[in-house]
Amino acid sequence: MLEITNLSVAYGKVVAVSDVTLTATPGRITLMLGTNGAGKTSSLCAIAGVLPARKGTVRLDGQDITNLAPHTMVRKGLVMVPEGRKVFNSMTVEENLLLGGYVVDGKARKTKLAETYEMFPILSDRRLLAAGLLSGGEQQMLAFGRALMSSPSYVTMDEPSMGLAPVMVEQVLASARKIADSGTGVLMVEQNAEAGLEVADDIVVMSRGTIIYRGSALEASSDSSILRAFLGDIALAEPTQP
Ligand SMILES: Nc1ncnc2c1ncn2[C@@H]1O[C@H](COP(=O)(O)OP(=O)(O)OP(=O)(O)O)[C@@H](O)[C@H]1O
Ligand SMILES: [Mg+2]
Repeated sequence: MLEITNLSVAYGKVVAVSDVTLTATPGRITLMLGTNGAGKTSSLCAIAGVLPARKGTVRLDGQDITNLAPHTMVRKGLVMVPEGRKVFNSMTVEENLLLGGYVVDGKARKTKLAETYEMFPILSDRRLLAAGLLSGGEQQMLAFGRALMSSPSYVTMDEPSMGLAPVMVEQVLASARKIADSGTGVLMVEQNAEAGLEVADDIVVMSRGTIIYRGSALEASSDSSILRAFLGDIALAEPTQP
């Protein structure tokens, strides 16, 4: 289990995250929702060692990994897929993937590459193309694939559907589900609450740096008043008029 306990993050004197406690579990998607500025990105960055945790602990299968360097976290089995995908545009798809597998030795890396192509056939079709030529959705899958190349036990992802066309939103979130189904624990931040709920197992809602609701995705999607109460009307798209 990935256990985050009483995590706090601050930018100078500004406290962005305060006392956040949550878990990610192998095979499950924990969905983190929350309005703008709630502290979701700051939480993910501190969990992955990109920002210092001011207080609290991050434990990976019992081992304290709080504030280790991001590359050390990768070796321990925790990889972050950052907001905005951050693929290397001028490198090919395959080169991007191989970079993700830098912690794995040569032979295992080839096996991993084959597994990644099997999971995301579109990446295999595009393997010799520069990553910058891919669509946003394909780049997001590349960012997922690159993360999986190091065989992580846990993956965090920040706003994977951001800026994508609706059909790609579905495909990208279905890919996140596939990653969880393969046994990886997923901690996902997603603005598109409705689409996120369709693939998630557990949810936490953040507001002003703290968790204000936790429950099951099933419960939240069957009772829209729950999310409306915590996120406001804008969080849930109104059904379109016929
Ligand atoms: N580099 C920074 N310096 C100072 N304050 C920051 C910095 N980054 C974020 N903050 C502040 O920390 C708080 C949490 O921001 P954060 O980006 O973690 O929220 P978020 O939930 O990811 O929001 P969004 O939905 O807009 O992505 C906000 O009040 C924000 O203004
Ligand atoms: Mg954010």
